[in-house]
Amino acid sequence: MAVAVCVTGAGGFIGSWIVKLLLARGYAVRGTSRLADDPKNEHLWALDGAAERLTMLQVDLLDRASLRTAFDGCDGVIHTASPMHDKPEEIIEPIIAGTRNVVEAAADAGVRRLVISSTIGTMYMNPHRDPDAPLDESSWSDLEHCKSTKNWYCYAKTIAEQNAWEAARARGLDLAVVIPVVVLGELMQPSMNTSTLHILKYLTGNAKEYVNESHAYVHVKDAAEAHVRVLEAPGAGGRRYVCAERTLHRGELCRILAELFPEYPIPTRCKDDMNPPKKGYKFTNQPLKDLGIRFTPVHEYLYEAVKSLQEKGFLPKASATKVTERRSSPPQKQPAPVLISKL
Ligand SMILES: NC(=O)c1ccc[n+]([C@@H]2O[C@H](COP(=O)([O-])OP(=O)(O)OC[C@H]3O[C@@H](n4cnc5c(N)ncnc54)[C@H](OP(=O)(O)O)[C@@H]3O)[C@@H](O)[C@H]2O)c1
Repeated sequence: MAVAVCVTGAGGFIGSWIVKLLLARGYAVRGTSRLADDPKNEHLWALDGAAERLTMLQVDLLDRASLRTAFDGCDGVIHTASPMHDKPEEIIEPIIAGTRNVVEAAADAGVRRLVISSTIGTMYMNPHRDPDAPLDESSWSDLEHCKSTKNWYCYAKTIAEQNAWEAARARGLDLAVVIPVVVLGELMQPSMNTSTLHILKYLTGNAKEYVNESHAYVHVKDAAEAHVRVLEAPGAGGRRYVCAERTLHRGELCRILAELFPEYPIPTRCKDDMNPPKKGYKFTNQPLKDLGIRFTPVHEYLYEAVKSLQEKGFLPKASATKVTERRSSPPQKQPAPVLISKL
């Protein structure tokens, strides 16, 4: 019988790639969603092996019993489900209490290992950190700083991860945490997600200038691979894995996009051109390299992300761009406005 792994938030941007990878490796996958037959998760049924080895379950992160049922008999759990915006009244509970419930339910179900998707926002939001020291598993964001800057997503994810470590230790549960940066690449799901919106605004003409900021980026396939390797590798538990390929200033990101897709109105000016370009955080991704991850270069995942936006109708293709301009009609589909958190 196939080994079972449960993936929470299975139909999301990263979750979908994790499900695809697990099915390709022969696992039986239990995917969770707040709505089991949500049409936005239908793409999962087209995956190879889905008809035979995928089950979708309706799970509420705030209902520990529903999590326990989903995890029963599973070898591992990968917890990706999370809101990704900055409205505190909507995100604090599912992120903090939800993650706590996942840890307790995984311990109750006796799973071999739990892997949680955290975020780089749990590491770099700290005014006292040394900007020249690479972020590593000992780095933590400062909760007061997150609060005073109203980065409620980073605040909630930091508390959730810290509580998860404490609860896992108390329960003797093998926990490992993947810490993605801004994740980009081909979208499998039909809907827009927060990190893809990060680049969409530079392609549609909505952003006339770019901000003076730097962030780190990674390919969605590498992020999914990282979760699966961290789940599988025998000695991989008990660690936090920074999942990042490289840091780029927003100007460099726009320059690469313009090189790849000169047909779009990609900004060439910085909002804050009076000041020097802000440097991003440094990081070490060596622990994931040690697990065999070979990080894909940025040109490739930016290319795949834009192609995918075109294919899903979020962006007009090159020839359609001209028609659109002449008729002044909007692109085929507009993404829902989403508050961008610090990922
Ligand atoms: N994408 C990035 O750049 C990035 C960077 C750093 C960290 N991460 C982390 O990686 C994980 C996956 O991110 P993603 O980009 O794949 O996100 P995503 O596409 O938005 O998917 C997340 C899934 O979580 C579920 N979800 C959303 N709001 C929820 C709520 N209030 N309560 C319970 N479930 C909820 C949704 O599934 P249903 O609607 O089916 O329930 C959604 O499909 C998250 O934990 C995120 O914090 C992502």
